[in-house]
Amino acid sequence: MRFEPSACATDEPANTTPVTEENESFTENFPTDGENKNVEEQYADYSGAQVFSVKLKSSEHKRMFQQLEDRELIDVWLHKRSKKRSRAEFMVLRENMQEVLSLFYEADIQPKIVIPNMQRLIEKEKKAETLTNSTLRSGHGMNWNEYHRYSTIHSFLLHYANAYPDICTLKTIGKTVENRDIQMLKISSGGNENKTAIFIDGGMHAREWITPAAVTYIIKELVDNRAKYRSFVDDVDFHIVPLVNVDGYEYSHTRDRLWRKNRADLWGPCNGVDLNRNFGYKWGTSGSSFIGCSQIYRGSAGFSEPESKAIRDYIMESTANFQAYLSFHSYGQLILYPYGYANNELPSDADDLKRLGNAAASAVRKLSKTRYTVGNSAEVLYRSSGASDDWAKGEAGIKYSYVIELSDTGKYGFMLPERLIKPTAADALEIVKVVADEVMGLYEKKGLTMILEAKLNASKILEDDFRLVERRPRSESRGVASHWRPPPLSPGRSHPLVWPPGSCVVMRLA
Ligand code: ARG
Ligand code: ZN
Repeated sequence: MRFEPSACATDEPANTTPVTEENESFTENFPTDGENKNVEEQYADYSGAQVFSVKLKSSEHKRMFQQLEDRELIDVWLHKRSKKRSRAEFMVLRENMQEVLSLFYEADIQPKIVIPNMQRLIEKEKKAETLTNSTLRSGHGMNWNEYHRYSTIHSFLLHYANAYPDICTLKTIGKTVENRDIQMLKISSGGNENKTAIFIDGGMHAREWITPAAVTYIIKELVDNRAKYRSFVDDVDFHIVPLVNVDGYEYSHTRDRLWRKNRADLWGPCNGVDLNRNFGYKWGTSGSSFIGCSQIYRGSAGFSEPESKAIRDYIMESTANFQAYLSFHSYGQLILYPYGYANNELPSDADDLKRLGNAAASAVRKLSKTRYTVGNSAEVLYRSSGASDDWAKGEAGIKYSYVIELSDTGKYGFMLPERLIKPTAADALEIVKVVADEVMGLYEKKGLTMILEAKLNASKILEDDFRLVERRPRSESRGVASHWRPPPLSPGRSHPLVWPPGSCVVMRLA
C-alpha cells in the first residue's frame, strides 16, 4: 500500500520529518611501564618489533591465536570477523618473535608482515612532528597537517570559545587521574530546550591519535563553515569532547607511542585502565580483563575511573535531548552499533542503527571512496563489555549510538601518517553530517509522542504504511487526540482493524 505525502488534513502543522532510517589485548611483556614504573625518562623502545596480519580460517587457528593473546605473546591491534574466516593484525616484540613465529609455523599459518620495523615508524613520525613544529602557526596553533599535544588542542578549544561566544561554550567536565582537565565544547545556535543534541567524543584510547585530530576538525568545520552546514547546525546541538583520555594521550607522546589505557596507578606492576571497558553497563561480563597488566583491563568497578565517570555524569546531568552518541576510535574503517557485551544482543531498533550506519558509509564512499563496514560490534569485531557505546544505548537511552573506527584498515594502523589526517577527518565529518541530518527535529524522549499519519487505501494497514509527521512532548499533542482512532500499534505487527478505503488517520504511538 502507498500513501501520498501529507495527504491527510490535520489540525497539526504537517511537519514532515521522514522516517528513514578491536577487540584488542596486549601484555606486559611489552615495553609499557612494568619495569620502568619509576623511570620517567625512558621512552618505550620497539626495536625489533613487527606488525603482522593473519587470516584465521579454522576454529583450530582461532583457538591457537586466542592462546597467543592470552599468553600475552602478541598485542592484537585489530581482529575482524566475517562469516568463515577472520583477519587479525597484531604486534610481536623482539623477545617473543621466535616463539610466536614457530608457533604459527607449526599451525601452518603464514603471517604477513604489515609493519616490518615498528621503531623506525615511530621515529619517522617524531621527526615529522618536530620539522613542522618550527613553522609558525596562527592563533591557537592547531592545524590538521600534524598531530598535536594536549596543550595545543586545549588552546584551540579556548580560541573557539573566545572567538565565537555566541555559539561555542567550553566546559571542563572532569579531571583525569593526573588532574588534567577534560574539556567539552558545545556548539549551539540556541533555541528551545527540546532541541536535538549529539554527543561526540574522541581520544578515549591514547594511541588512536587520528581521533582527537578528526574531532577537532569536525569542530572547526561546523563552526567556521556553519553557513554551509546551516541545515543541521541550526537544528542540532553538538556536545563534543575531542580528547577523553588526556593523560594516556600525553603519555603516548612522551613515553610510549602505543599506550592505550588511562594512567591509573594500580597496585600491581602495571598501570592503566581501558576506559572503553570501564563504563558501567553490563560491566565485566565478557571481552574485558580483570588483570591490571592487560590492555583491556576493565578497572575495579564500572566507572572506577574519573574519565569515564566525567562522560557519564555530563550526559546524565545534562538536560539535552541526546539522540546520537558517536565515539571515535581507530582503526579498521568500521561503523559499529551496540551491543558489544555479548553475541546476538541487538537493541530492538537495531534496524534503524544499521540503516543510518549504511547511509553514513555510502556518503563517505561517495565523498572519498573510503569503504566503511557497518555492523553490530560483537559480530564484526569481538565481544567487549563496558564500552561507552553500549552504555550510551543501554543506560543513557541514546538512540543512535555508534563506535566509529576511522582509517585505515591496517597498512599503518595507529601510526596513520599525518598527510592522511585531513582526508580521514573529512570522512568523519561526513558521518557526523549524515547522523545530524537524521536526528535533527527528533524530539522523541521519555514522555514524548510520535505522531503518525497515513492515507489508507486498503482495509488492512501495516506499520510501514505510516509516515512520521512529528515527534513532540505529549503535553503539546492533545490536539491530535481527536484524530486518534485505533489503539497503539504493537511494533512489527499488522493492524487488525478494518478501515474504509480512503480513510485518513493520525495515530499516536506512546
Ligand atoms: N575497538 C573498540 C574497543 O576495543 C571497539 C568497541 C566496540 N564496542 C563495543 N561495545 N564492544 O574498545
Ligand atoms: Zn579504541
